[in-house]
This record gives sequence, C-alpha cells and structure tokens, in this order.
Amino acid sequence: MRRAACPGSFDPVTNGHIDIISRASRLFDEVVVAVGVNASKNRLFSAEERMQMLTEASAPYPNVRVAGFDGLLTDFCRDHDVHAIVKGLRAVGDFDYELQMAQMNSSLSGIETVFVPTSPAYSFLASSLVKEVAKFGGDVSGLLPDFVLAQLTKRLAE
Ligand code: PNS
Repeated sequence: MRRAACPGSFDPVTNGHIDIISRASRLFDEVVVAVGVNASKNRLFSAEERMQMLTEASAPYPNVRVAGFDGLLTDFCRDHDVHAIVKGLRAVGDFDYELQMAQMNSSLSGIETVFVPTSPAYSFLASSLVKEVAKFGGDVSGLLPDFVLAQLTKRLAE
C-alpha cells in the first residue's frame, strides 16, 4: 500500500486544495490530509472546524482520510506509515520555499516530496487571499465549496 500525505493549514480548504487532494488520490493507494493544528498560529477556523470541512470536502474520494498533526511533518509521516508528501505548486513563487521544505524533510527522514502542478484555474488561489477578499465583500463563490463559503461568510459576520 502506497500512502501519501497532503499537508497544509487549510484555513479554510479551497477548490485548489481539493484539486490537489483528488489528483493525489489517483496517484496513491491512500491519501492522508495532514492538517497542521499548531495552536500558536492565528487561524480563522479552529483545528476541529478545518478538519470537519476537509472531511466533508474529501467525502467523494474513498481513499482519502483526514488527520491533525502538531510538530514535525516527518514525525507524522513516520507515525502514519506515509511514503511521500504531495504538494501543489501554483507558480514559480511557490518553488523556492517548497523546495527548501522538501529538502529539509528529505534530510530529516529520507521522505520524498512529489510536486503536482496546480490546475491553471486555481493558480492564483490561496486561503489567505480568499479570506481577505471575502472580508471586504468580494465574491469568492466558485473558489471554495458552497458549504465552506457558508461557514466563511458566517464566521466573518461574527
Ligand atoms: O498551508 P501551509 O500553511 O502552507 O502549510 C504549511 C505546513 C503545515 C505544511 C508546514 O508548515 C509544515 O509542514 N509544518 C510542520 C512543521 C514542520 O515539519 N516544519 C519543517 C518543515 S521543513
């Protein structure tokens, strides 16, 4: 069984994330979406909320499951018997930092990182931008699942 991790903050999950997760699910026998739950980071959604949204978003993919992690990603991969990390690359701007992380993770544990090019339709998409646009009343429908949009709209109104 070849198992991959798709790690991230997912605050909140977007259609760009789902694109990468669904494509990873076709490349590997099992995909674990690894949600960083580091409590010290300032998030709009709690770890439980982010994981609940990812669980709902990944329901169409039977070989995808969701798990939280705190600490090193390489420790998570060891504990979950994960053989590869899958990361989406949106544009060249992502590359430097992603390469650095891939090389650090490889030096820590030998784990491979597989880069998947983001679909052009989502190459500009980032959770941080979605939150900013939504906060100022911009239309972000179509960039994230409807049920996530509903939770985002509700949270921003609180
Ligand atoms: O969605 P993000 O914020 O880009 O996700 C970043 C994440 C959670 C994948 C990254 O920060 C991470 O792997 N954190 C775990 C801590 C760790 O292992 N750090 C060393 C990375 S080389």
